Amino acid sequence: MYRTRTCGDLRLADEGLVITLAGWVQKIRKMGGMTFVDIRDRYGITQLVFNQEVDAALCEKANKLGREYVIQVTGTVRERSSKNTHLPTGDIELIVSALNVLNTALTPPFTIEDETDGGDDLRMKYRYLDLRRACVRKNLELRHKMAFEVRRYLDEQGFLEVETPVLVNSTPEGARDFVVPSRMNPGQFYALPQSPQTLKQLLMVSGFDRYFQIVKCFRDEDLRADRQPEFTQIDCEMSFVEQEDVLTVFEGMAKHLFKTIRGIDFKAPFMRMTWQDAMKYYGSDKPDLRFGMRFVELMDIMKGHGFSVFDNAAYIGGICAENAANYTRKQLDALTEFVKRPQIGAKGLVYARVGADGTVKSSVDKFYSQEVLQEMKNAFGAKPGDLILILSGDDAMKTRKQLCELRLEMGNQLGLRDKDQFVCLWVIDFPLFEWNEEDQRFYAMHHPFTSPNPDDIPLLDTDPGTVRANAYDMVINGVEVGGGSIRIHDSQLQDKMFKLLGFTEERAQEQFGFLMNAFKYGAPPHGGLAFGLDRLVSLFAGLDSIRDCIAFPKNNSGRDVMLDAPSVLEPGQLEELNLVVDIKK
Ligand code: AMO
Repeated sequence: MYRTRTCGDLRLADEGLVITLAGWVQKIRKMGGMTFVDIRDRYGITQLVFNQEVDAALCEKANKLGREYVIQVTGTVRERSSKNTHLPTGDIELIVSALNVLNTALTPPFTIEDETDGGDDLRMKYRYLDLRRACVRKNLELRHKMAFEVRRYLDEQGFLEVETPVLVNSTPEGARDFVVPSRMNPGQFYALPQSPQTLKQLLMVSGFDRYFQIVKCFRDEDLRADRQPEFTQIDCEMSFVEQEDVLTVFEGMAKHLFKTIRGIDFKAPFMRMTWQDAMKYYGSDKPDLRFGMRFVELMDIMKGHGFSVFDNAAYIGGICAENAANYTRKQLDALTEFVKRPQIGAKGLVYARVGADGTVKSSVDKFYSQEVLQEMKNAFGAKPGDLILILSGDDAMKTRKQLCELRLEMGNQLGLRDKDQFVCLWVIDFPLFEWNEEDQRFYAMHHPFTSPNPDDIPLLDTDPGTVRANAYDMVINGVEVGGGSIRIHDSQLQDKMFKLLGFTEERAQEQFGFLMNAFKYGAPPHGGLAFGLDRLVSLFAGLDSIRDCIAFPKNNSGRDVMLDAPSVLEPGQLEELNLVVDIKK
């Protein structure tokens, strides 16, 4: 046995014990005739003491250690005279009587400490060293605990974990697929699943009425802080359920996680908001409700006063930032620049400060009487000291999205987005379809198997754009952590859906024949959802990017810089796969 205890668990009560530790050299300090070495393992850090006067040869050996050497030490636990209150083991140290160097190490390219000197790229290249840092490791520990609690909860609720294949067929809807050539079927390709959607529906046909799987999914899409090309879903499906049943079970799961992982007891049911309201009041289908600043529409009040920007707008709306009237001209100019950034695309920003006496001073005063400005103030319910920020535009939806960005930015600037506060929400009643101007056709907003709200079925023939879906997303602090729907289980309705999505009968049969045929053999009513495990973990850990809770993530170009993947194939391998690479720029 290499060790009898770990580097994180020694306490004052262990004083006098002779123990053996094994781990990595974190730090070496020489002070007079003493050498202090911090030894680190997965569990923590212990200070080792070597004394020149007691054992010169041993101390000499310790002096030759380098950072990240792997060592084994035996010694006696002793109370420290100067305690380190920052370390759980800070009350004790180990007086070493034997040192065994298990392995030497090159000097690491960055310091293995929470505050490291390594940049992102360097840390990703040497991710195995980065993972030695306590702050990174604890994210993976949290991830393990969350996955464990998910399994515990779902098992108690009667869910069965079933694995589904990773080599599947390519489907046209959704994101782009990652594909894998088949050696045995020249010219043919598998696709990696974007989610096990159709497979879990087939499991419902098979009678597995409560399925789940913690499963890797693959999507070839542009990456962001909350997106990875391969990510993990907690994928779930249930039979004989309606929307309310699904929401109850998975609200329960979220509450179970909050309770067991963060010690937070959510008693009240999660808030619910329709997609329409989310867009109208927050300009987003995943509003962050940790703070207010609900949108107020100002078309009736602000139009028709000679300010041509507003007079010609299809939408005028704003937010009220409480107690922010002290924003300086410079800060307001910076906000204007912020909304004008190409990623946001607003043309400008109008602001109005409510003075201590209640009068309103705005950047467009010359067009508006104080009476109109007061009317505007009242529409927001603004108080003295508040700041009103207004955007307008010729496309209501686009302008709302711009206002959403501004609202989030103000939330950040005013410190209203506390990472330790959690506000959970179900967004419901999503539209079934999304119109695509470019392709002049409808796309399924969620996926083609989502059922319409039964009340809206007649509208499928007359006004498909207004049909609401039986779909729902769970949103926490402005992050879409999960989403799903009640599915179509009737093959005739599914046929109709494919038609509306522009599929010919042949193509629908070619792509989804397996599912439609299965539905002819007694498909139960079913529905489900999938959570993004990476997003849930990073939310619970207060991380800015999901990358930090993934052991070996990809960078923003979809590369694994440590493995240097993707990479070119050897000519022999290509030949075996019957492939010729001809890159078209
Ligand atoms: P959807 O596409 O909404 O639904 O995905 C479900 C959840 O997965 C997470 N997620 C991601 N996380 C990290 N990186 C990504 N690229 C990424 N894409 C999605 C999100 C999201 O809410 N089959 C359906 C679910 C269903 O209907 O049951 C589906 O995949 O947290």
